[in-house]
Amino acid sequence: MKIVGGPSSLDLARKISEILKVPLVNTRMKRFPDGEFYFKFEENISGEHLIIVQSLEPMQDVHAMELFLMLHTARDLGAETIRVFIPYLAYSRQDRRYLEGECLSSAVIAELLEDLGADAVYTIDVHNERVLGMYKIPVYNLTASGEIAKYFVGKGLRDPIIIAPDNEDMAKKRAQYAAKSINADWDALEKRRDRYTGEIITLSKEMNVYGRDAIIIDDIVSTGRTAANAAKILKEQGARRVFVGVSHLLLMGDAEKIIMESGVEEIAGTDSVTNKYAKVSVAPILARALMGEIEQIL
Ligand code: R5P
Repeated sequence: MKIVGGPSSLDLARKISEILKVPLVNTRMKRFPDGEFYFKFEENISGEHLIIVQSLEPMQDVHAMELFLMLHTARDLGAETIRVFIPYLAYSRQDRRYLEGECLSSAVIAELLEDLGADAVYTIDVHNERVLGMYKIPVYNLTASGEIAKYFVGKGLRDPIIIAPDNEDMAKKRAQYAAKSINADWDALEKRRDRYTGEIITLSKEMNVYGRDAIIIDDIVSTGRTAANAAKILKEQGARRVFVGVSHLLLMGDAEKIIMESGVEEIAGTDSVTNKYAKVSVAPILARALMGEIEQIL
């Protein structure tokens, strides 16, 4: 087995190769003056079992194209098997036609990965389980929610409770998994999103959080509004401290400010995407999965 690091995940690929004690493949990558991506294997990969590591963090389209070129090259040059680790699987929020005429973006990604030769896909905390059903090849949805919850245990939590900021199935499963990992309670809020304006409304409800430390567990922070709405409700109901633990901290625009101004004590994320709050690494999670210890929440 050998690891191939894509441009968005070079550090992560290095960590995975160290944990698994398998070599990184030598590659050469550059951008042509007009912006096109150039990729080359600097060693023979014919007959090898490869793991390509490439996050689809922003700029998603750029990183997707890089992945497609790498995958095609690996297949074309005779790799025996190609497993792709995409810690942040972008386009997973467009998993169905919410409005008539919309593109099924998640299906496009699935079809391209398969057509270009991926034998299996590993990802972390995919946004929606419907995405997994779009693949004909094996797809493993690992979770970082347990490791993130364990990170917060180091903060000396008082009577912790895990909160899912919306009550979609996956959000509740993640919260449940995180709660079980640290032997805590969990609860879920209800969130509604306007499909045209993107506006998010979180409905308040009575929760048993007074005097307790609450950890909001979610898959993605993009604008930060989901986490901030939940944090405000928790603070209003007397939570002692509110933490935000998120697998993919995209933190677009003012997200960080919006979250911190809602009363959040600390944000923690993973290295699935580049961000300054990557306090948990997804490298050991993938390594364990490759060794057969799959931490899936489905
Ligand atoms: C959506 O339902 C996800 O689980 C996240 O809650 C959402 O993507 C976060 O987005 P934002 O940070 O823009 O509220």
